[in-house]
Order: sequence, then structure tokens, then C-alpha cells
Amino acid sequence: MLPPILRVACAVAALGPALACLADDRPIEEQITTLLGRMTLEEKIGQLTQVSGVDDEGRKLAREGRVGSFLNVTGATETNELQKLAVEETRLHIPLLFGLDVIHGFRTIFPIPLAEAATWDPELIEMAAQIAAIEAWSAGIHWTFAPMVDIARDARWGRIAEGSGEDPYLGARMAEARVRGFQGTTTDGRYQPERLIACAKHFAAYGGAEGGRDYNTVDISGRTLREVYLPPFEAAVRAGAGTLMSAFNEIGGVPATGSRFLMTQVLRDEWGFDGFVVSDWNAIRELLNHGSAATPAEAGEQALLAGIDMDMVGKIYPEHLPGLVESGRISQAVIDESVRRILRIKMRRGLFEKPYVDSQVEKDAPLRPSHRQVARDVARRSLVLLKNQGKILPLHKSISSLAVIGPLADNWAEALGSWAAAGKADEVITILEGLRKSLGPGANVIHARGCEIEGDSREGFDEAIAAAKQVDAAVLVVGEAAGMSGEAASRSTLDLPGVQEELVKAVHATGVPMIVILMNGRPLSIRWIAEHVPAILEIWQPGVECGHAVADVLFGDFNPCGKLPVTFPRSVGQVPIYYNHKNTGRPPSADKWTSKYIDLPSTPLFPFGFGLSYTTFEYSNLQISAGNEGEQREWTVTADVKNTGERGGDEVVQLYIRDDAASVTRPVKELKRFRRIPLRPGESREVRFTLTPEHLMFYNQRMERVVEPGRFTVWVGPSSADGLQGTFELTTTDNGS
Ligand code: BGC
Repeated sequence: MLPPILRVACAVAALGPALACLADDRPIEEQITTLLGRMTLEEKIGQLTQVSGVDDEGRKLAREGRVGSFLNVTGATETNELQKLAVEETRLHIPLLFGLDVIHGFRTIFPIPLAEAATWDPELIEMAAQIAAIEAWSAGIHWTFAPMVDIARDARWGRIAEGSGEDPYLGARMAEARVRGFQGTTTDGRYQPERLIACAKHFAAYGGAEGGRDYNTVDISGRTLREVYLPPFEAAVRAGAGTLMSAFNEIGGVPATGSRFLMTQVLRDEWGFDGFVVSDWNAIRELLNHGSAATPAEAGEQALLAGIDMDMVGKIYPEHLPGLVESGRISQAVIDESVRRILRIKMRRGLFEKPYVDSQVEKDAPLRPSHRQVARDVARRSLVLLKNQGKILPLHKSISSLAVIGPLADNWAEALGSWAAAGKADEVITILEGLRKSLGPGANVIHARGCEIEGDSREGFDEAIAAAKQVDAAVLVVGEAAGMSGEAASRSTLDLPGVQEELVKAVHATGVPMIVILMNGRPLSIRWIAEHVPAILEIWQPGVECGHAVADVLFGDFNPCGKLPVTFPRSVGQVPIYYNHKNTGRPPSADKWTSKYIDLPSTPLFPFGFGLSYTTFEYSNLQISAGNEGEQREWTVTADVKNTGERGGDEVVQLYIRDDAASVTRPVKELKRFRRIPLRPGESREVRFTLTPEHLMFYNQRMERVVEPGRFTVWVGPSSADGLQGTFELTTTDNGS
């Protein structure tokens, strides 16, 4: 065993070959104990402190060992310089952890997470996260504040763009895929060094904000919390996420950032999480606004005792923990435990052995052609064909003239969406560029902006109408600016902003065959368009390969296969609207005295799971058979799916269940399995799913997870609103729960 001083020198060894020395290979926990024994209180609190950006004050803190992590510092040179202060100049040489919001790509920007969820393709999303991690690592980043795994049932909430939509099962699959992609493989308890530590956020139920207004109060039942909002977090933790971030909101009177129930009971005691929790931006200080703390010191005490280990920019911990320890309100042991968790993650990431990044890799890693290729594939697989009347799509490449109209048709920046990290607008292929490239120089492609995204000017309408009158078909690209979704971007309406819908109507009035392309970060209410325009393609904010992906789909080089990860309402008044709702005592029917609006059908405009293809799929022959009995019991559900059209294509086959009667009411449908299958024209395949008691479980009135005997209905189909239906019985004797 090396003496402590030599062990510390091992960290320094990574500085250069001259100092080569063996890395400390004692078990991490032992190393932490040694280190903790040598740390002053100030150094310990430094580890619990995170600072944003770098200035003289930040450098001073780094040099004095009074900061454990920076966010928003990127670049090999910048991070190495700062790291050098911590590793070479501090007493204990503890390296810094650099965090950044790498949400859907670093330099190669992928579609926004909501769009990625529309691929229903966890392996592909894992690959996208892996590419994001490699690019960000090359710029000195160790830690991403992602995946955002908040379930969102209210499209007014701008942050719906950052998550995987409304469903806990799909959300959980996406959460674990992203964690795996960001973190790579963990070997002997060590993370892959050239990846990013993941941070599942925002714990918890942030998406339940009343009225969809960001940061707003959340008041949900314990059952809804556990059955709807928590599963993606649990999946992220089970997949090995190293960190979590606390949410800004309160839940039923307790701010998440001060909730011992969430941060300790659920996360650590129930799920066995041993990483660390960072607060959201200034969220500890916001406990004062919530009114759960009277003074900044009380806020710090509440957060630390709840289980928040690191204070993101709020300065509450560095300013108030020393006094709290001195007065005996916080024990050294509590501080030590939080420091231990942070050091554990730093050691698992190998920062002590390799604190620096090689600046050469920064030159090679970002925006490789292979990365762009994956971004293109993710983007085209995330597009959802909502309508295709008269098979107007795909367009023939032999089309002699095409008008490309709308404020988003030739737009670089908006296609990147919110949180675009190091993405650059001028690297985006716009839709106009993509279509022109695909058609070649001979085609007559006319562009007219028509109007702005917002505002009421109709000055460009005439030009757009004139363009539409000269061509064989018009493509209208309308939607939202990137800044209209994401954080602090809640909307009170889901209509197209500005005069864009009027522009669509004006072009429609010319009689030109037209396609509407929607670029947006949330579901929009597009009733008029859905009724009148023959073809609608939802493209979300598709990222850097936008134009190529859209051209691939519009001209049929790629058969669309995305499915909605979220319900599209007819109007904002239907919100919250989600497929896995309860039945009520008076489910909607023709009878007046049932649960519905008098001025709208009770169904959504487009249901969860919905998406068309250029081919058609036929479902038949649903079979449900009971397998093993007892502990290992399971049910096999099979159905035949046939491609009945003339093109090859992928279908996402979805399995839903309902527990028809139970001791607590159950949703009318719940997604439990899905599978993507490629089918050639005419090809038929049997799709087989296995259900286990795990899929049938819920929280009973005593909040125990149980399976209850009785009848279950099963659907296998192309969306939450369609499919073959069958049932199976679980008899009392089967119930081993
Ligand atoms: C957001 C987080 C983000 C953090 C750091 C906060 O305002 O809510 O999602 O990770 O800022 O940028």
C-alpha cells in the first residue's frame, strides 16, 4: 500500500509521463475514508458546491479546493486549465467534475428527446446518447444533466420537449437506453472514462405542474406519483445512473428539493441508489420562496438532511453549512456522507487517475460524418406521418415543380430545438436545402417565407400564394420557434403561433396539392389542418440533419415509422389528455350525462402510439396462453402482423393491458410491451410478447405492490386506440403476490 502522499501523487501522475506512478487501486470506499480523514470542513463543503461558468472568483475557489464541480465550462483547454488548479494547487488534489446539459447531442444535434421517443427504438436512442457522450467528453465534460425523464401529460408545459412524453413504460425504456448510452459499460464498478455520467432529472413529478405552467405547484396522489411519474426514474437508477437532479416543484406541500421522502426514502432506501443528488439551479435557495424555509440556513439544512448532496449555484451550502455544523444542527456525519457520494462518483469515473482530456480528441470527435449519419437516421425515424389522404406522399422525384413555403422551411436555428449544447445553426441542413439536394439542380423549387413564426404581418402571403399557383405541389413548413418549448416556455394555447394557420388556409385555397410539415416541441392543436390538408408530417425539432431526414421521407427513400409518444388534443381545452386515463363512473358516450365536453368529441385528434406508414399493416390471430404456474408464471401473447402494401416498412407493435376490476381503479389501458418489426411487402410475422406478474402489478389501497386475481383485457395493435382484443383470467390460486 502506498503512503497517502504517494497516493495523491497518482492523481498528479496523469499530468504527464514524467510523474508516472501507480494508480491507487484500493477499493474506492477505503480511499474515500482516507481522503475524508484528511479533509477540513471547508474542503468537504467545497465538494458539495457547484459553480457555473468560470471567472476569477471561480478560479480562486478551484485553487482553494472550495468547489467540487463546475457547469457550463466546456472545451479541452478551458476545462484542463481549471482542472489543473484543483489537481495541482489544492492541498488534496481532488479533481473537479465538469457538468453540462448535453440533452440531445453535443455538437451533432439529434432530434429533441420527445422526437427521439417517437422512434420507439431504444437501441437507436442509446447510440445517439453514446455519440453525444463521446463528443462532450472530448470537450472535457464528465457529466450530463440528462436524461430528463419527466412524464408530461400537459402539452402546455414547455419542457415536454425534453422528455419522452406521457407514458411511464415508454419513458422508462427511453430513460434506461439513454443512461446506458451516456455512461457506456461499467466494469468493476468503474464507468467508461470516455463517456458521461448520467443525471436523471428532475426528481420528481416536475411534469405534473398545474396548468402546465413551468415551476408550478404539483399536487398528485402517492399512487400517481409511484405509478406514473417515478417509473422512468427507477429505470434510470436500475440502469446505473450515477446521479439525479432534484426538481424545482413542490409535491403536495413539500418542495422536492427539501423532500426526505423522495431523496432518501424512495431513492436510497427503496431503490438502493448510491450515487449523488444535485439540486436544480438555485433550487435550495428557492425553498425560501416556497415558504418551507424561513432563512437561507434553514433551506440548506432542509436540503442536506433531505439528501441533496450538491448545491447547484445557490451558494447556500458554502455560506451556511459551516454555521450549521458549528451550531450542531448538522452533524459531520451527514456532511461526510454527501462528500462520500460525490467522491465515489468522481472515483468511479476515474477522475483521480485521468483528470484531463487530451486536446487532440477534441479536434477529431465532434460532428464526424458517421455521427451525422446516425443523426439523420434518428431524425427520419422520429418523423410521424399523421395523415396521408389519397397517398399524396411520397412525392415523386420526377415532380417538375415544388413550392416550399413557411417561416420554418429554410430555417437553421429552430430545427435544433432547445438545449442545443455546442450545436451550430449553420451546420443544420434546412428543409429547403434537403429537398433541393434530393431533387437535383434541374427541379424548379420555389421558396416563399409567407410569414414569420410569430406576429401578425400577412405581407408575405401574396408571394406564397403566387408560388403555390405555379407548382405541382406545395410543402408548408409551420410550427414553433425553438424557444417556445423547453424551460420557462409554457404556452396558454396549443395553436400555431402568429398567422401561420391563416397562411396554410390561404395556400390551401389555391387548390394546390399540399403537405403540411409541423416543426414543434410539443403537440399542437391543428384541427383545421387535420380536416382540410391531405398530408401532415410531424417532424418535431429534428436537429442538424433536418433537411436530409425530411427529404428522405417526403420522396419515399425512407418509409416513415415514428409513432406519437404523446396525445395530440383537438384543442387546448382538452388538456390534460392522455391515453392511460381512468374510466370514471360515467365514461363518455352519446348520453349527455357522461364525462365529456359538450362542444368537442371526447377523443383526441391523434392518439398516443399513432403513426402511419407508406405501407399498410394488418393484424390478425391474437392468441393468449398461460405458461408457467406459481412464482414463475407468465402469459404468452402472440399476433400475426402482415405488410399488406407495396413497400417495405417498420411497424411498432404495441401491447396494452387493462385490469378490468381491482381493489383500486385502474387505467383504461396501459402500455406494457412494444416491438419494432421490419416487414417486406406481403411478409407476415408472428409477434410474440411475454407478460409476467410484474406487468400486472399496481399499488393497492395500502400502497403495496400487488397482482390481484381477475380478468385482464389485452390489446395488440398499431396504437393506443386500435388493435386486436382478448382477455385472460388470473385465478385466485395463481396469485402468488
Ligand atoms: C434546469 C435544469 C438544467 C440546469 C442546468 C435548470 O434551470 O431546470 O434542467 O440542468 O438548469 O443548466
